[in-house]
Amino acid sequence: MMQSGGTGRETWGSKLGFVLAAAGSAIGLGNIWRFPYVLGENGGFAFLIAYLACVVLVGLPIMGAELAIGRGSGRNPVGAFKALLPGSLWWVVGGVGLLTGVLILSYYSVLAGWTVFYLTQSATGEIIFPTLAGDIVTALTFASTGLHIQFAQHMTESLFTGFVTNSPLVLLFHFIFMILCLLVVSQGVEKGIERYSKILMPTLLGLLFLLIIRSVTLPGSFDGLVFLFKPDFSKLSLDVILLAMGQAFYSLSLGMGVMITYGSYLDRKTNLFASGATVAGLDVGIALLAGVVIFPAVFAVGLEPSSGPGLTYIVLPAVFGKLPAGSLLATLFFLLLTIAAVTSAISLLEVMVSFATDEWKWKRRRATIIMAIVAFVIGVPSAMSFGDWSNATIFGLGFFDLADFLSANILLPVGGILIALFAGWAWGSEKVKAEIRDGNPELKLFPVWIWMVRILAPIAVLIVLMTNII
Ligand code: TRP
Repeated sequence: MMQSGGTGRETWGSKLGFVLAAAGSAIGLGNIWRFPYVLGENGGFAFLIAYLACVVLVGLPIMGAELAIGRGSGRNPVGAFKALLPGSLWWVVGGVGLLTGVLILSYYSVLAGWTVFYLTQSATGEIIFPTLAGDIVTALTFASTGLHIQFAQHMTESLFTGFVTNSPLVLLFHFIFMILCLLVVSQGVEKGIERYSKILMPTLLGLLFLLIIRSVTLPGSFDGLVFLFKPDFSKLSLDVILLAMGQAFYSLSLGMGVMITYGSYLDRKTNLFASGATVAGLDVGIALLAGVVIFPAVFAVGLEPSSGPGLTYIVLPAVFGKLPAGSLLATLFFLLLTIAAVTSAISLLEVMVSFATDEWKWKRRRATIIMAIVAFVIGVPSAMSFGDWSNATIFGLGFFDLADFLSANILLPVGGILIALFAGWAWGSEKVKAEIRDGNPELKLFPVWIWMVRILAPIAVLIVLMTNII
């Protein structure tokens, strides 16, 4: 059993358990749904490079800062700032982080609900059924394969539209997904989050490898790899860099306090930089592997990589419909996506639960149930925003798109800047140093890290934000 700061506070059972739980938080729909489509829309390779740069220059330093703040305080994001700098207003950063987390969880659960729905449908063959029906019609009408596959996509698109505009059904799956998260989180840190992460993360890897093998052995799949890895900087613009930075924050679960919370359950022997880097490495690796599943398959059947958020739910089912054993492949893929979503969403819920148990002294069970209800209710407008409430828009975006854009591209980067500044300046350099030293006695990379959180990361994030707002 590991020991940690606050008395009576739960802790991780092992270092591996912590790494898997933190990687489980990072690896999610952001890697498998968001990363491929944002990359597809923004020129492939150019986006990839901008993303990697943001992970190294901004993501890694902030990851270290969050883990240090968490372990140093042994508290939730609000309590952490209060404990480390009593009497200051820094707790507001944790408070905004908490609200950002609620916002993310609310629409994340809607999206994950779609995934669960698709899982049930692919298991019954329903997803690719329209494609098969399309086959018969098109075989009679068109001889050309190009038109053929486009027709298949047309069919999967109507299936998707039929589902997302069916608000009661979307709400039902949003609810089911939230219940899944509640069941895990209510069992606690070690017996819930850690235990499930240890089962689910290896399963996720196994599924991913199966799908990669299938995808890259398809005839014509090579073009997908070219799209992903062929150097082409011509598409690199400020917009692309903002999206890459948002993606880095989102994908690494940074900027709102997940890593503060997960760090608060850590023992003093863990090397924070090394485990942070492991988590980031796993996260980036899985995003790339998701790209290696998706693009070769999309190119192999002759569809477009730049199809936006519908890539996963419209293009892929059309792809599966074209492959032998398509419904099995679809089932494995949506199972992968569901697993990734659960291990991420539980981290968001855990932030809220740790806040309520620390600050309001609620029992874990009660905190989990109430917070899950809150996130469910806030998610209702997002769930409805494709159906009954599709006319309600703010700045031209529906609730769902607005929540996604606002959290990833604005709130998380702003939170990240403030977290970096806190660790670099406000907390006090001797205290930060002492915190990092536990588990990392030689303080390897500390001199580099401290200037990254003091200057480089905040300025880089600020410049990207400002140039996009002006
Ligand atoms: N990182 C997760 C993903 O890639 C999403 C996520 C979980 C998240 N917790 C977060 C994003 C905290 C931002 C902040 O899907």
